[in-house]
Amino acid sequence: MALMATKNIDRIQSEAGEEGQHTLRRTLTATNLVMLGIGAIIGAGIFVLTGSAAAQYAGPAVVLSFVLAGLGCLFAGLCYAEFASMIPVAGSAYTYAYATLGEIIAWIIGWDLILEYLVGASTVAVGWAGYFKAFMTKLGIHLPDALTQAPLVWNTQTETIQRVPGGVINIPAMVLTLLMTTLLVIGIKESARFNNLIVFVKVTIVFLVIGFGFMFVDTANWHPFIPPQIGPGQYGWDGIVRAAGVVFFAYIGFDAVSTAAQEARNPQRDMPIGMLGSLAFCTVLYILMSLVMTGLAPYKDLNVPHPVDVALARVPSLGWLNYLVDIGAIAGLASVVLVMLMGQPRIFFSMARDGLLPPVFGKVHPRFRTPYVTTILTGCLAAVGAGLLPIDLLGELVSIGTLFAFMVVSAGVLVLRYRRPELKRPFRTPLVPVVPILGILVCGYLVWGLPRATQERLVIWLVIGLVIYFLYGRTHSRVSNPGQPAFSGD
Ligand code: ALA
Repeated sequence: MALMATKNIDRIQSEAGEEGQHTLRRTLTATNLVMLGIGAIIGAGIFVLTGSAAAQYAGPAVVLSFVLAGLGCLFAGLCYAEFASMIPVAGSAYTYAYATLGEIIAWIIGWDLILEYLVGASTVAVGWAGYFKAFMTKLGIHLPDALTQAPLVWNTQTETIQRVPGGVINIPAMVLTLLMTTLLVIGIKESARFNNLIVFVKVTIVFLVIGFGFMFVDTANWHPFIPPQIGPGQYGWDGIVRAAGVVFFAYIGFDAVSTAAQEARNPQRDMPIGMLGSLAFCTVLYILMSLVMTGLAPYKDLNVPHPVDVALARVPSLGWLNYLVDIGAIAGLASVVLVMLMGQPRIFFSMARDGLLPPVFGKVHPRFRTPYVTTILTGCLAAVGAGLLPIDLLGELVSIGTLFAFMVVSAGVLVLRYRRPELKRPFRTPLVPVVPILGILVCGYLVWGLPRATQERLVIWLVIGLVIYFLYGRTHSRVSNPGQPAFSGD
C-alpha cells in the first residue's frame, strides 16, 4: 500500500552521496558537530526551567530528574547515532522513518518535528528576549514594554488566550530570529563558527558557576533530598518523574546535529561523536549545575524565571557572577535558536526532495550552498511566532513532539535490524533490542507524565498534518508515485 511505502536505503545513500551545485556543502568537522550539539542543548532548560521544576515538583531531587531525562535521551541518542551514521541525510528522523516504517509515519514525524525545531526556536527566542531586556535594564537601558511583548499571552490558569495590556510586538525576539536566519542562509561554515564562539562563552560561564558555586554550598539545603510527597506530582518519586518531563526540555537539541549530516565531512564517523559527545557533556554539566543551585538556596526559593541569579544571590561575594550568568544565558539561548533554525529547513528540504512538499523547498543556493528557501521560510514563520503569538502556549508541545520523534527513531532501529540485518552500520546501537525498547519506554513514560491538554494538542497537530498529506504529499510523493519527475534542483 502506498501509505506504507518505504524508501529504499540504497537509494537514500546514493542521493546523500551526490555532489555538485544543487547539494549542500560538506565542511563540518567532528568538533563543529559537538559544538552544534552543545549549542542546541544548553539554554532555557537549565537557565529557566530548573528552578520551577525543583521548587514545585522535585526539590533537590531535581538532580535525579536530570538523570532520568538524560537516560531517556541517551537511549534515544544511541538509536539516532546508528541511523545517522548509516544513512547520514539532512532529513534525520523523517528519513529514518521513511526507510523503515513507511511514508505516512515519515510524514507524521516530519510534521511533528516542526514542533521541536520551528516552535522550539520561537519559544526559546521569547525566553532570550526576556533575558536580554532584563540585562539591558540592569545596564540602565529601558526597552518599552510595547515593543518587547507579544500582544497575546496564554493564561495557564484559565487555559485561554488573553490580550496583554500594552503588548504590541516582541521586537528583540524577532530580530534575533531574523539575524540567525541570515547567518544560516550565508553559510553552514559561518554559522558553525559563530556557534563555536557563543558555545565557548556559555560553557565557560556555566563552569564558573559550578566551580565557585560548589565552594559555598550549604549541605543543609539538600536535606531532605527527596521531600515527602504532598500531592500528585508534588515531591516524592511522582514529583521526580513530573520534573523529569519538565527538564527534558533542557536536553532537546542534540538530535538537531543529525540534520547537518549532509554537511559533515565524515558523517559515518562524526555523527555519533557529535550527538553522543554533546549529550554526555551536557548531562554531566546539568547534574552538577542542579546540585549547585539546590545547594546554594532552599529549593522553594527557586521558583522564579531567573533561578541561577537567585541561587547566586545567597552568596554576596559571588555578586560579580550575576552579570556573567546573564551573558551566558543570552549567548546560550541564542545558539539554541540558531541550531533549531538550522534543523528545521533541512527536514523541509528533504521532504521536498522526496516530493512530499513543493519542489521549490528543495532548492539550494548556488553560491552559499544552503537550503535558502526553507531557511528563509522557517525564519519568517519563527519570527512571527516569537514576535506576535502566545508562543508560551506551545512550550510543552516542543517536549512532547520531540519525545514522540525519539520513540519513532528507537522503533525504527528495531525494525531495520530485523528487516535489513546485513546493512553496514558504522555505529551500532549497543544491546539491541534492550536499548531501543528502553528508549521507547522511558520516552513514553515522560509523554505520559505530561499534562493531558498537551497530549491532546499533539494529536490535533498531527491530524492537521495528515490532512495536508492527503491533500498534497500523497499524490506528489516520488516513492509511491514512480511517475513523478525526479528532483531537478532548478
Ligand atoms: N535544550 C534547549 C533549551 O534548553 C531547547 O533551551
